[in-house]
Amino acid sequence: MPDVPLPRSVTARAGTNIALVKYWGKRDAALNLPATGSLSLTLADLGTETRVRFADDAGDASGRDSVMLNGAPADEKVAARVRRLLDLVRARANITLPAEIVSTNSIPTAAGLASSASGFAALTVAACRAAGLTLSPAALSELARRGSGSAARSIFGGFVEMARGERTDGSDAIAHGLLDAGAWDLRLIAAITAVGAKAIGSTEAMDRTARTSPYFAAWKDAVGLDLHAARAALATRDLAALGQVAERSALRMHACAMAAEPPVIYWNAATLAAMRAVTNLRASGVDAYFTIDAGPHVKVLCAPAAAATVETALRAVPGVMQTLVAAPGPGATITEEITEETS
Ligand code: DP6
Repeated sequence: MPDVPLPRSVTARAGTNIALVKYWGKRDAALNLPATGSLSLTLADLGTETRVRFADDAGDASGRDSVMLNGAPADEKVAARVRRLLDLVRARANITLPAEIVSTNSIPTAAGLASSASGFAALTVAACRAAGLTLSPAALSELARRGSGSAARSIFGGFVEMARGERTDGSDAIAHGLLDAGAWDLRLIAAITAVGAKAIGSTEAMDRTARTSPYFAAWKDAVGLDLHAARAALATRDLAALGQVAERSALRMHACAMAAEPPVIYWNAATLAAMRAVTNLRASGVDAYFTIDAGPHVKVLCAPAAAATVETALRAVPGVMQTLVAAPGPGATITEEITEETS
């Protein structure tokens, strides 16, 4: 046990992120190392707040963590994933205390809006601090990746690149910031096209894709050029160029997944109709570009001045139930820290 009292209860907040160059496939499942790099935008407001409190009594932590998600006990699969991440934090901090986790999402959980990204980023930041660890953003990113690959990116704000890395221990499979949230003001409008959790989680779907899709090798080969083009578009603040990369990366990811056996098909009729609405907007002179993650929702990137027009167009699409507008946001941060003078 450390000599100084641990900050017993720490709350952290992280925004979710939307990949413009997608991560799809792993080079190592145990360490959760991505098969390719990826590039994303961290969002303000849509995210997760997580409180971590380690118990006062020492002991065997296995099976004794309590995990609350959105006001109810987390299901066993989620709780096990959280526990695995906590075990890594405990090992690093040399403690065996069980923890109490209370996590709240401001986005529909498991609806394809990447709540695991903000969830594991907030959990990593809060748990490390509560365990008395002081880690660099890069080290937090490496740890968050063990919870969920996309979470490694939510440690940072604004535009973020995740490296594939080359090392077998994963120490270089980490994210870094490319442009701060304030450096390029854009809007991301999410068109929600279904209720409830997605049919198949991204971890399982990308594993199936890597094992059975004949297009997986081609997908991996193309990501390097997409990353290069996206970085160049960021440097010159070229929305059309960035949007073009985002659309092709999403379409290639889904094409690759659809060719898996059995197929991974996330789209519904409204997904296609919303994509068409975006291309129609472009034809009428509105700069807007779509991307789609492991779910049926469509996320549209545009300038702030075009956001109202884009939102109106998406709301008019049959099957679009709701729209959410988000701006670029900061990286994961600690929002509250309570130190108790115990033990
Ligand atoms: C389609 O990060 O959820 O959103 O590492 O297995 O937890 P795991 O996968 P996850 O996958 C995200 C997939 C994606 C694309 C992306 O965010 O890059």
